Amino acid sequence: MPRLHVNIDHVATVRQARRDTQPDPVLAAGIAELAGANGITVHLREDRRHIQDRDVRILRDTVKTLLNLEMALTDEMIEHAIQVKPDQVCVVPESREELTTEGGLDADGCLDHLSDTIAQLKAAGIEVSVFIDPEPNAIEAAAKAGADYVELHTGSYANAKGQNRDNELKRLETSAHYAHELGLRVNAGHGLDYENVMPIAQLPHIEELNIGYAIIARSIYVGLDQAVREMQDRILSAAPPDEA
Ligand code: PXP
Repeated sequence: MPRLHVNIDHVATVRQARRDTQPDPVLAAGIAELAGANGITVHLREDRRHIQDRDVRILRDTVKTLLNLEMALTDEMIEHAIQVKPDQVCVVPESREELTTEGGLDADGCLDHLSDTIAQLKAAGIEVSVFIDPEPNAIEAAAKAGADYVELHTGSYANAKGQNRDNELKRLETSAHYAHELGLRVNAGHGLDYENVMPIAQLPHIEELNIGYAIIARSIYVGLDQAVREMQDRILSAAPPDEA
């Protein structure tokens, strides 16, 4: 069954609403780990709208499971990652105007830069994932660039309804198979919630699910511990009986 990586960006979003010290994403990461999260994900954005440099530095020391840093392909971020040494980096496209990451990286369009970045990060002992749309050319480019993982963008699936959702699920399944065939490991994320996560957890080859907004939103009502446990239960309930 896929492992759950909890994205805690939106804990920092609330803190930054007042530029104060609470709620602290570092504390939230600890609670998420105690509740069973298998990893902690943060996106250090260029505009520092939620996660701050200090958060990533402290999380590097305190996270006991696995720290996954989402970042754009910029010199500043590459330098930051090499200094902090998260366990994993996920390269994402970024634009200042977007509310959240909108699409996968155009891995083919930045192949040289991406290959060079991946080589630098891997030389620093960091595993690298590339966040891509579930498209063959993006998977091929990620493989060519030397990525360890692709993270398949589940946003179109999450936003689709009825037959369109089934089609998006099929596209993710085909992509997971193809990425695996090319020697890539496969993660998935974006827009996943308590209602739509199970079919994704049942896809072949998926190792990690990155889930943020749904868990942090629910935590306002039920607490973070319960919100993480409920998501883990959903993922486990998607497992065939011998794996649960
Ligand atoms: N994966 C990536 C690459 C992302 O950029 C995000 C959003 O930060 C997520 C997963 C989590 O998305 P959500 O907050 O919708 O669960």
